[in-house]
Amino acid sequence: MNYLSIEDIDSLPNWVKEARLQKNNPRQNESIGKGKTLCLLFFNNSLRTRLSTQKAAINLGMEVMVMNFGSEGWALEYEDGTIMDQGTSEHIKEAAQVVSQYADIIAIRAFAGLQDKEKDEAEEVLNGFVNYASVPIVNMESSIGHPLQALADAITIAEHRTKTRPKVVLSWAPHPKALPHAVANSFVEMMQLQDADFVITHPKGYELNIEITKNSTIEYDQDEALKNADFVYVKNWSSYLDYGKILHKDSDWMMTEEKLGKAKFMHCLPVRRNVVVTDGVLDNGKSLVIEQANNRTYAAQIVLKKILEKK
Ligand code: CP
Repeated sequence: MNYLSIEDIDSLPNWVKEARLQKNNPRQNESIGKGKTLCLLFFNNSLRTRLSTQKAAINLGMEVMVMNFGSEGWALEYEDGTIMDQGTSEHIKEAAQVVSQYADIIAIRAFAGLQDKEKDEAEEVLNGFVNYASVPIVNMESSIGHPLQALADAITIAEHRTKTRPKVVLSWAPHPKALPHAVANSFVEMMQLQDADFVITHPKGYELNIEITKNSTIEYDQDEALKNADFVYVKNWSSYLDYGKILHKDSDWMMTEEKLGKAKFMHCLPVRRNVVVTDGVLDNGKSLVIEQANNRTYAAQIVLKKILEKK
């Protein structure tokens, strides 16, 4: 079993329920991973994913190895039949098989480059390991998805919902750098599995991949979208249509206490204060961001537990 996207969750309510049980007693299954090794390979930076996934593995009794592959590993080649006389030193075929000998589960973080949509959507790093590794693979954020984050978000919403069908809004925010679509994509996919009134709001031109959003409501008027919201998930992403471009940095879209109203604020972190969201929102008790980060441990823990049970 791999955990590559939200589609690998066979029952979201059951996984959320089980994750909350793990949270109540994190060491209850610490014999399940005894003698097993998790190898985390980072091609990009991380705080939460790196530490929470390690914590989850420790809670399950696993050993953990971490490598900053992007800065410390050999430059990998992904193309078949390439004459490797340029910058790449090692082929994914050997690298994935070698790491598989050291690990029982491999977890990979490899962001979108945002230069070439086709290349990003091919997910060459994640799929390279899926194709050539002989052990299960976990996606710790790839070009197009961040399913560990979305599972943590589902746990957080379940913990804080006061009605069976809450209104949840995904609201685009300004940002000085072009960011990938992975967090937004997986959040949309996760919300499509929930009983919720779910609305996406963003300026025109920031439409996500229509194949992902086709079953969701899009409202271009942010004020209209935010009316009566229970949860507001704020996230920047670059344009998908004009791939990887920043179309504008309109600060009108920054989340404020006034706009948030009675809703709870959500964000995956890291967040840029007073660009994406005001200090007031983060500091006034309506923010769930620290709890979301806490739930990253239990999202990872349920994923690792499911994989260990199937091995
Ligand atoms: N939300 C998230 O994935 O955080 P990191 O990038 O710090 O891992």
